[in-house]
Amino acid sequence: MLIKKADDIPSSEITPKSLYLNRRKFLTGTAAAGVAAVAAGVGLHEIASPSSVAQADAKIDGIQKSPFSTTEVITPYKDVTNYNNYYEFSTDKYEPAGLAKNFKTRPWTVTIDGQVKKKQVLDVDTIIKMAAPEERIYRHRCVEGWSIVVPWVGFSLSELIKRADPLPKAKFVEFTTLFDMRQMPGQRSHVLEWPYVEGLRMDEAMHPLTLLCFGMYGEVLPNQDGAPLRMVIPWKYGFKSIKGIVRIRFVDSQPDNTWHISAPSEYGFYSNVNPHVDHPRWSQATERRLGEFRKRPTLMFNGYDQVASLYSGMDLKKNF
Ligand code: MTE
Repeated sequence: MLIKKADDIPSSEITPKSLYLNRRKFLTGTAAAGVAAVAAGVGLHEIASPSSVAQADAKIDGIQKSPFSTTEVITPYKDVTNYNNYYEFSTDKYEPAGLAKNFKTRPWTVTIDGQVKKKQVLDVDTIIKMAAPEERIYRHRCVEGWSIVVPWVGFSLSELIKRADPLPKAKFVEFTTLFDMRQMPGQRSHVLEWPYVEGLRMDEAMHPLTLLCFGMYGEVLPNQDGAPLRMVIPWKYGFKSIKGIVRIRFVDSQPDNTWHISAPSEYGFYSNVNPHVDHPRWSQATERRLGEFRKRPTLMFNGYDQVASLYSGMDLKKNF
């Protein structure tokens, strides 16, 4: 069988519309509806989660290709949108797709504050229009040992940072996710401290690979993948890539991050992908790409060697 490389496949071809369905929902709830639909002569696609289909269907115009993209095989859309870590919705990876279906991503504002000259509250659509959208096909490695290759859409966070005009005191950036228990059922439990927060050192935040992301596979982000706005930092474990961002704050000292608060001996601030530093409960030397059976070796900085100079002189075993 011929396996196409990412470069050969237009995003439109990679995205089978019928696969927006949450698999479990399809197998349970929709099964009964399907029988009724067949009887009524209605297609399954038409009865399945119309709101998420409408949301996820929105194509993003004018997407440019990025030299930062890998040519590795892209993970199928159905896997990336049905196997998610999004604890605000559920700790079960198969559930966010269904539970986030009616999550409201408009109107949505993002507060930019802290040590910046231009403190402001911006509409998310103003942010999205700040710079030309780029498709960045990145490897993305979860701390739990699975990985994916995704054609994200967004632009470098540095574009927004430059416009916010940080003061010299701004040494770190802190990100915060929406806190809304009515919409995010996982926030009613104490599994993590809410709202979810993450942070980057200023030079990491300014690195051109650091992506402010609002789309994937040529379309707006599905809710379960972090709509309307998330981070993607490809050389760090997935938990640094915070979803559903409502605040970007510039601070003078290292901010805390949710997983470090939850288990400080297991999750650090830096969280750089590093095959030589194991998690206390498992090895980080290998990973399994979603949809594949065999394991593959994990690469230092997830293969993004161009960030190595950010950490020269640092002990990455201590600063894990
Ligand atoms: N952001 C928020 N707000 N809440 C979360 O639970 N999970 C993180 C990260 N961002 C998470 C989050 C983790 S652990 C991972 S691996 C990635 O999102 C998963 O992103 P994906 O579901 O798009 O693959």
